[in-house]
Amino acid sequence: MLRERQYLIQGGKPVRGRVKSLGAKNFATKAMVASLLVEGKTTLLNVPRIGDVEITADLLASSGAKLNWKQASDLEIDTAEVRSARVPLPDSGSNRIPILLMGVLLHRLGEAHVPVVSGDDIGTRPVDFHLAAAKMFGAEVTVDQDGYHALRKNPLRACHYALPYPSVGATESCLFLGVLAQGTSIIENVATEPEIIALITMLNAMGARVQLLPNRELIIEGVDRLYGTTFEVPGDRIEAASWAALAAATDGDIIVDGIDPATLINFFGPFNSVGGGVSIEGSKSIRFFRRHPLKSIVIETDVFPGFATDWQQPFAVMLTQASGVSIIHETVYERRFGYLSALSALGAKTQIETHCLGSVDCRFRGHDFPHSAIILGPTPLRSNKLVLNVPDLRAGLAYVMAAALAQGETTIASAQRIERGYGDLVTRTSDLSLVISAS
Ligand code: EPU
Repeated sequence: MLRERQYLIQGGKPVRGRVKSLGAKNFATKAMVASLLVEGKTTLLNVPRIGDVEITADLLASSGAKLNWKQASDLEIDTAEVRSARVPLPDSGSNRIPILLMGVLLHRLGEAHVPVVSGDDIGTRPVDFHLAAAKMFGAEVTVDQDGYHALRKNPLRACHYALPYPSVGATESCLFLGVLAQGTSIIENVATEPEIIALITMLNAMGARVQLLPNRELIIEGVDRLYGTTFEVPGDRIEAASWAALAAATDGDIIVDGIDPATLINFFGPFNSVGGGVSIEGSKSIRFFRRHPLKSIVIETDVFPGFATDWQQPFAVMLTQASGVSIIHETVYERRFGYLSALSALGAKTQIETHCLGSVDCRFRGHDFPHSAIILGPTPLRSNKLVLNVPDLRAGLAYVMAAALAQGETTIASAQRIERGYGDLVTRTSDLSLVISAS
């Protein structure tokens, strides 16, 4: 179990300085899973030392893989011996990796037994597309109180599957199932997030034959075997966007290192519209600041290349400082505004609606999901020793930002949930004027 941690933050001043974006959590953990497709060694560079990576490392080790940190962030994974098809329940109980092990273990061992895990409390987060994909590739799948059980009597065979929604995880499952299946698979309506592009690139570097067509279609020509490779984890675009929003919200100035500007392509436009400023300082460094007084905006989250759902929480914190009425229409998860009550406790004026406040054709239309938010600004944020309890990882960093923005002292409880994705923020922010102490 991750140890209970608290952050104490003294806020109310512009945040300035420099911070390094870690390697992307949502790619690093998938690249670790991909290493199981090989009988041999894979080396991953720039792997973040965060809770979710440790959890994934434990899951891989329990199957028989040997993991060895070569440098602070270089991880060698030897999968010559993989013996156990039984995936244990991860320590945190809310991590999406186990279901991704189904495809790779099916190839390696002919079976996979995966526990039921939910993920953060931001929606129901079913795994029906993953299970449907395994069946389409020829596995028998059953479900009982212990979890999901998949079995193959013969090698998996190629299929034609149209995903009902461009799910990131289900696209990854299809890639894992397809690269070693017999024949050529066609997967329609796939996710194209930068982490998916990186995974396709890595799989192809391992000898896979995967092609992404312009119409969100994957053509996967199955091969007999894959080979180990060395691959660098790109910087985390979600984390980078959070520092950007913090710089603009506090009228500060932050340089984020280790991030490819191209992964933020559709963040820059809305950020600039609100009043943020961006300066590219090199191939992997970006400076963020406030260019104009902040003004309101209407945002709709969507799958890539849309505005990422994981960007909306830091953006909401920034929008509390923008004049006018801002709207965020969340179209990826049905209940991802739980964190707004904490912002309101700090003085923000927010309201949550079940109607679609936007034009994106949203799956939640006509249901009773609290998936649209209204933020009225600007409102000064204040904290009189408030304690905010972190509900999920992305909301957690938004709480840190809100505490940095608010005059006074704020305690962030259950900070270990933040560290699952961001590591130890106390040491990581040492070159920023933001002072966080931990207990
Ligand atoms: N969905 C289904 N059935 C499925 C799979 C997904 O209905 O079988 C639905 C989900 O309920 C959701 C939507 O499809 O409404 C999108 O889910 P997706 O599968 O794309 O999400 P994920 O793969 O579980 C990853 C990231 C999330 C990120 C989303 C969207 C990881 C570990 N998580 O989740 O990141 O928000 O893609 O980009 O890669 C985070 O990092 O904190 C985080 C939540």
